[in-house]
Amino acid sequence: MTSKGVIEQWNEELEGKSPVDVLRFFLNHFKDKIAFSTSLSLEDQVITQMIASIKPETKIFTLDTGRLFPETYDLISTTSNKYGINIQVFFPDAAEVEHMVSEKGINLFYNSIANRQLCCYVRKLRPLERAKEGLDAWVTGIRRHQSVTRNNLQLVQWDEINKLVKINPLIDWSEEEVNEYIEAHNIPYNQLHKKGYASIGCQPCTRAIEPGEDVRAGRWWWENPETKECGLHKR
Ligand code: ADX
Ligand code: SF4
Repeated sequence: MTSKGVIEQWNEELEGKSPVDVLRFFLNHFKDKIAFSTSLSLEDQVITQMIASIKPETKIFTLDTGRLFPETYDLISTTSNKYGINIQVFFPDAAEVEHMVSEKGINLFYNSIANRQLCCYVRKLRPLERAKEGLDAWVTGIRRHQSVTRNNLQLVQWDEINKLVKINPLIDWSEEEVNEYIEAHNIPYNQLHKKGYASIGCQPCTRAIEPGEDVRAGRWWWENPETKECGLHKR
């Protein structure tokens, strides 16, 4: 286990370094014990391009809940082909999904926060348990400015939920920086962004946003901002 002291030291030493330098450092440090978890978001596409340029054989995985948009599946395919990488796809356990759906209904998430969290648990968190087997660290595309639930995050932190070192290379980037990088490097992105979608998750739990609305306003839009986390990063 990596100690708190080492994590603090990394945060100090890497402050102000570019995301590519941060990624290069940790990919070398953790070798095959680090993986990148991608939801194919704009931020994640930036990181995928960076990892592909540093060490394309890095483990990159995505959690396919079974309720994603067709555009997201297209992007998994386009991205894998463009960068010559293998995005490992983890699925939920069929028996667990069947049990949940027979007990609570196919669209249970609209009925209560508890139901929504159960669905995220079965479709995302349980597969994550398999995806992270044997790892010491994971990389995510989280940015501090994304939401009220993410204000206190750091570049490197101990992830107590997942018992892994968590590395957030784009922690300080603004939305503009992400967009500029995508354009400058001709990175493929989800076609739904052209239709008013900002942050994209599962199809039934994501809607397009109106101009001026918060980027995460279209995620679980019927809930308060404080509860809008699927549990990957906060429970
Ligand atoms: S969520 O909690 O609201 O779903 P968000 O979409 O902002 O998370 O993504 C934050 C980070 O979590 C992503 O950059 C990615 O690293 C990871 N992540 C989220 N959803 C998935 C997914 N379906 N598969 C793999 N990683 C994911
Ligand atoms: Fe289920 Fe919605 Fe969570 Fe996707 S985002 S796992 S559909 S509750």
